[in-house]
Amino acid sequence: MSDVEIKKGLAGVTVDYTAVSKVNPDTNSLLYRGYPVQELAATQSFEAVAYLLWYGELPTDEELAQFVAEERAGRSLDENIKQTIDLLPLDAHPMDVVRTAVSVFGASDPAAFDTSRDSDLDKSRRLFAKLPAMVAYDQRRRRGQELVEPRDDLDYAQNFLWMTFGEIPDPLVAHAFNVSMILYAEHSFNASTFTARVITSTMADLYSAVVGAIGALKGPLHGGANEAVMHIFDEIGSAENVVPWLDDALANKKKIMGFGHRVYKKGDSRVPTMKAALDTLVEHYDADQLAALYDALESEFVSRKGIYPNLDYPSGPAYHLIGFDTLTFTPLFVAARVTGWTAHILEQAASNALIRPLSAYNGPDERHIEGYVADA
Ligand code: SDX
Repeated sequence: MSDVEIKKGLAGVTVDYTAVSKVNPDTNSLLYRGYPVQELAATQSFEAVAYLLWYGELPTDEELAQFVAEERAGRSLDENIKQTIDLLPLDAHPMDVVRTAVSVFGASDPAAFDTSRDSDLDKSRRLFAKLPAMVAYDQRRRRGQELVEPRDDLDYAQNFLWMTFGEIPDPLVAHAFNVSMILYAEHSFNASTFTARVITSTMADLYSAVVGAIGALKGPLHGGANEAVMHIFDEIGSAENVVPWLDDALANKKKIMGFGHRVYKKGDSRVPTMKAALDTLVEHYDADQLAALYDALESEFVSRKGIYPNLDYPSGPAYHLIGFDTLTFTPLFVAARVTGWTAHILEQAASNALIRPLSAYNGPDERHIEGYVADA
């Protein structure tokens, strides 16, 4: 075998610069355009953080007012998107539904192939405004419920919960949801973001890159982990069953979803903030049993394997307590991460270098078709 060094999964490989965010495993920190994500989660609306990711600066009051007015005006589900979702089976995976809805949204956009920065910024903002309605409607239709129209007197988080559950959310719940969206928004060259960058590097349009990113996020090693965490909780049932369940899982070499990370090796910088938000929901919904199971599994697995929770571990139970179907969890991640994906798409489009790595061949040596004689 040639002496070429293969970097499996591009682990540890730095392939480009980005100014969007900085993930630092040594200091266990995450900066969005220089701001610590904890400070943003404690002080900003998700709308303001989306603005920061796209424009590089937090908005002034006037800029935010204009941005929010536009987002609120663009929230309602287009009839053709609703008809598309209605054509899909009720048991279609919600990640397939949102991927299809975004694809139709893009196919219906006359500006789809205008890859200018202004046009892509406009697409990004329209997707940001539209995704909650797509995700909320799909959950409601699976429950036999009618579409709930958005309200323009509610902020992004409140309106998302309004469209999903048909009730004005408790401020505590809306705040926890807002925190989760900010924490999920961006995380440098993760698999789905890098997918979006690869697609953008061919000069394909923004919608193609977002649809590809949704496909990558669906996997349980990536965004699908928050859904998988809840399946694990349902399987274990209660804190008393953690040890036997974990004995069996590890004996069968199972990956425990919600734990581990390719970059953070001493714990995910976002977990303390999301866990604090989860704790407020546990108290609000009096969910002591869930909290006991959460703590028992974390302490048992960390003590045995020294592998720490990632953001998906606290966010899954939080979304469960808020009332989302487990299958809706990863589409919520899509609604948040569309801001990070599109910020990277804009950055990649500006630098435009085709992403095309090399491979080392380890197939059969050259060989020929019997009897074949090349033309003279
Ligand atoms: C996200 O990249 C990002 O930034 C992603 C993300 C974002 O915001 O975009 O942070 C979001 O995707 C978070 C990760 C969600 N995924 C999961 O929770 C799935 C479970 N986690 C594992 O699959 C794993 O931890 C990965 C895939 C997340 C990271 O794996 P690595 O860095 O490639 O490390 P590895 O799989 O090679 O694991 C090293 C060792 C292995 O043991 P050996 O085979 O060497 O004996 O640790 C073990 C692994 O088996 N291990 C686990 C484990 N995570 C690592 N064993 C059991 N359960 C786990 N969760």
